[in-house]
Amino acid sequence: MALVNTKDMLNKAREGQYAVGQFNINNLEWTKAILLTAQQNNSPVILGVSEGAAKYMCGFKTIVGMVNGMLEELKITVPVALHLDHGSYQGAIDAMEAGFSSIMFDGSHYSINENIEKTTEIIKMAEAKGISVEAEVGSIGGEEDGVVGAGEIADPQECKLIADLGVTMLAAGIGNIHGQYPENWQGLNFEALAAINNATGKMPLVLHGGTGIPEDMIKEAISLGVSKINVNTECQLVFAAATRKYIEEGKDLQAKGFDPRKLLAPGTKAIEDIVKEKMELFGSVNRA
Ligand code: 13P
Repeated sequence: MALVNTKDMLNKAREGQYAVGQFNINNLEWTKAILLTAQQNNSPVILGVSEGAAKYMCGFKTIVGMVNGMLEELKITVPVALHLDHGSYQGAIDAMEAGFSSIMFDGSHYSINENIEKTTEIIKMAEAKGISVEAEVGSIGGEEDGVVGAGEIADPQECKLIADLGVTMLAAGIGNIHGQYPENWQGLNFEALAAINNATGKMPLVLHGGTGIPEDMIKEAISLGVSKINVNTECQLVFAAATRKYIEEGKDLQAKGFDPRKLLAPGTKAIEDIVKEKMELFGSVNRA
């Protein structure tokens, strides 16, 4: 199946009270692991690509070619969106031109008026190509691939202004943080999420910083309109831990254990396991 935008999958998720996972990719192994797990679990999935990861993977065109090739060669039939994560204005334009089916334009560091202006322009370009658009209000704390946020809680009225522009999905800062949560984290701000959900109607809301959010908070967030949950760091952590174990056990030194296909296999399997676990938690299994 060809790439799809996120409109149908997220509207269905919102309606059915579950969330679709966005799992960020870094290389071929990551991409293959996520696509195969989605297929095995009959789940829709969103492949997230940060601008930093796009540079690492030799640019948007290389990624589009790789993902489209895999959809065909791996016979993937579940809905898959290829989504730019935290895109800049120019990055969003370039990703759209290269063949991404979905983009995030993160204008959260601009004033609300400038965010509205730029998001409006991006929506116009995206609509012409049938591409879905995610915008952001408030900010996500911490740092992801050079995108740094102070973690401001989004203002519900500003969320409504951006939602009404016709975005497909909206990311709002509600105390969520990229990377691992600190010991003294206050948790998600459900009062703010409820107010944003009320102000934006049926808009699918996006929860960034999915790594390490306790299950009960994930479920409560979904009940308050969250239909897309982004996970990145957790896949990196399990990949690194499984690879470390393989090397510490000296397996790379036994027979042909140094073969990259063997060396990267435990990490790849660890990604498959965590993605499956998240799909079960988010409720997207058998929703393809
Ligand atoms: P984590 O790295 O905390 O899982 O966040 C991912 C994310 O929000 C991508 O935009």
